[in-house]
Amino acid sequence: MNILCIGAGYVGGPTMAVIADQCPDHRVTVVDINTSRIAAWNSDSLPIYEPGLAEVVARCRNRNLFYSTDIPRGIREADIIFVSVNTPTKMFGAGAGKAADLQYLEKTARSIIEYAESDKIVVEKSTLPVRTAQALSRVLHSNAKGLHFQIVSNPEFLAEGSAIRDLKNPDRVLIGGLETSQGRQAVDAVAGIYRRWVPEEKIITTGLWSSELTKLVANALLAQRVSSVNSISALCEKTGANINEVTRVAGLDSRIGAKFLKAGVGFGGSCFKKDILNLVYLCEFYGLPEVAAYWEQVVRINDYQAERFVRNMLAAMFNTLAGKKIALFGFAFKRDTGDTRESPAIAVTRQLHAEHAEIAICDPKALDNAKLDLADLAEGVTYTADPYTAARGAHAIAIITDWDEFRDLDYAQIYDAMNKPAFIFDGRGLVDAGRLHEIGFNVYPLGCPALTHF
Ligand code: NAD
Ligand code: UDX
Repeated sequence: MNILCIGAGYVGGPTMAVIADQCPDHRVTVVDINTSRIAAWNSDSLPIYEPGLAEVVARCRNRNLFYSTDIPRGIREADIIFVSVNTPTKMFGAGAGKAADLQYLEKTARSIIEYAESDKIVVEKSTLPVRTAQALSRVLHSNAKGLHFQIVSNPEFLAEGSAIRDLKNPDRVLIGGLETSQGRQAVDAVAGIYRRWVPEEKIITTGLWSSELTKLVANALLAQRVSSVNSISALCEKTGANINEVTRVAGLDSRIGAKFLKAGVGFGGSCFKKDILNLVYLCEFYGLPEVAAYWEQVVRINDYQAERFVRNMLAAMFNTLAGKKIALFGFAFKRDTGDTRESPAIAVTRQLHAEHAEIAICDPKALDNAKLDLADLAEGVTYTADPYTAARGAHAIAIITDWDEFRDLDYAQIYDAMNKPAFIFDGRGLVDAGRLHEIGFNVYPLGCPALTHF
């Protein structure tokens, strides 16, 4: 079978690499309008960092996995087309700031009808508003060639930083289709790809609209858990309770479960905020303002958490940060990725900059993206991959990303090279607060009592 994926990003690139790896008899092509991205996929320096990705690509590339800019040929030759283009929050016109911007999806559909010469299955891999398949079908069937397209929804649940593991061993694969015989055949064709390595009981089929909506709901529920614990972390700081103790014990209830209860400086990433805002927009569109307001609060608490983090720094450091050097440990939105989209580090840096602090940003993989995100901040921000350099002469360290390597640094050496009194604000509950306090730091672990020397 010839499988095509349109969109060679964080989802299309790794997902197709794993499909090619697991299905050596299928020919998998990934196309993109971004020529430099495709060039990077074809080089030794892949456009995204994901543990294990380089090995999979090295095994399959130019065997049965091809990255190309030849979109017309890709479409002509494909039996199944996965559409994995970006669907960001719309920033203009009706629905600005909430609705999904579907222009890339529609352009893709128009390319398909321009170049297709035979019937095809078109798979929604991008995250889309519920009922997008209806619009997609209408655009595709506006072709004058009499071609027929079956639309299948197959949302992706991988998380960045663990994409290869998630793709190889997913909790579930969701495939939604129409309840017609052709719809069922299309669903079965897509399921057949995953059956090569995913156990049958994990391949779940549903109707199209349920499948589209499930993806938004899954992300909303995960983000809601994070905002819930983050809201309680604020109450912990006021009362002397410890958020890690509270969530550990609450999570022992099997009905609650332990995952996604880690308090932090806020969730980032390209999905949570965008998908909840899209859900909010859909609820408003369908005349459900109470439901919209309920979900919007998840995003509000997230913004509040990053603001609160900087306000706490300011209060602890004698209400002035002007001229003080702050080492930011981590800029990626989570560990094991270079992705900085919606990273709380962006909001934290901008607030620190507004306080006239000097910010030294340190991250093992995300410095290039950080420089792009902060391109407008000409002065007051420096970048280094070395945490010891970042912390030298600093008044405070703020831990923003849960990279393992920040846990195991020589904090005694770091302390010696810092301005005194030295502060550390742990926005991820990453370091051993007691040990750092013994070294001499004033430690502010998020959601926990502060350990100070005053
Ligand atoms: P991305 O921005 O990394 O990649 C999208 C790619 O599509 C870009 O390289 C872009 O150039 C390309 N593209 C846009 N229009 C095109 C066109 N007309 N023809 C060919 N290529 C085109 O985005 P991503 O993070 O891979 O996300 C893609 C989709 O998957 C989104 O809907 C997102 O919500 C969803 N998703 C993302 C993740 C994640 O962790 N990033 C996880 C699950 C689902
Ligand atoms: C998310 C979903 O998990 C994934 O299923 C979907 O396909 C895409 O969106 P991703 O954004 O890549 O994945 O990473 P995720 O692990 O979900 O983390 C998102 C953010 O939440 C990160 O900033 C992370 O640090 C934060 N987080 C996560 C917490 O603050 N606490 C937690 O307990 C878990």
